[in-house]
Amino acid sequence: MLDIKDLWVRYNSIGGVTEAVKGVSLCVEKGSFTGLVGESGSGKSTMMMALLGLLPPRTEVRGKILFNGTDILGMSDSAMRDIRWKEIALVPQGAQNSFTPVMKIKSHIMEVLRVHLGMSLDDAETETARLLGEVGLDPGIKERYPHELSGGQKQRASIALALACSPSLLLADEPTTALDVIVQAEILELLSNLRRTKGLSIILVTHDLPLAATVCDRLVVMKDGSIAEIGTPSEIVNEPKHPHTKDLVREMFRQRDKK
Ligand SMILES: Nc1ncnc2c1ncn2[C@@H]1O[C@H](COP(=O)(O)OP(=O)(O)OP(=O)(O)O)[C@@H](O)[C@H]1O
Ligand SMILES: [Mg+2]
Repeated sequence: MLDIKDLWVRYNSIGGVTEAVKGVSLCVEKGSFTGLVGESGSGKSTMMMALLGLLPPRTEVRGKILFNGTDILGMSDSAMRDIRWKEIALVPQGAQNSFTPVMKIKSHIMEVLRVHLGMSLDDAETETARLLGEVGLDPGIKERYPHELSGGQKQRASIALALACSPSLLLADEPTTALDVIVQAEILELLSNLRRTKGLSIILVTHDLPLAATVCDRLVVMKDGSIAEIGTPSEIVNEPKHPHTKDLVREMFRQRDKK
């Protein structure tokens, strides 16, 4: 469903030029659960933003991003707006803190349903309750403000928000960071269930290789804007080939054992 061909991304900001993604090629099959792992700054979030056409102005992007056969890189803003939310949706990095504090949870979700699907107020409210139930929350939570939810509940709500327009590809950028180990596992279980019940394809972005290895069917290891290695979790964890993957596996398990 997704075929990234030789993707290059170069940021041109006041601070200078950053080559964040350097020639990445990657296929994502329908219904797959892909883990994109790599150290901080390796270009993971940049890849996600490129997939959504949300890179800042003046950013140079080269290559192809074929989504169901169509190159979405060259698409107009309005065409891209039809793809975002409805086909490809993002649970952004730090999503738990991206809810506007003065808006009830339902307002965030209803707004997306109304703007992108043209729903009436009543329908949007009913659908919001259904979506919250789908991610394992009490639908009554819709009446609460973000600060009245735990971190894990907020993360579930942000997943409900991403699911609002029934996307076929869900990008989850560090959805478990800053959550305790039990809640991390619950969020991953939720993602796995959604994948199974809705036939959703998921790209999970994370620093946490051991965590990704428990749920993903394929791991993509990034290093300095390039792919160092792609393999099944068992290949990556048990027989890493690239020196960087070896270091990463050693370091990540060491950190996990320390906890
Ligand atoms: N808007 C931007 N303008 C300029 N440079 C940027 C911008 N966003 C990211 N970068 C740079 O691009 C590189 C890749 O950043 P990116 O956020 O994609 O990494 P990441 O793998 O998601 O890291 P983390 O795991 O810390 O979230 C970094 O060097 C970063 O400083
Ligand atoms: Mg990131």
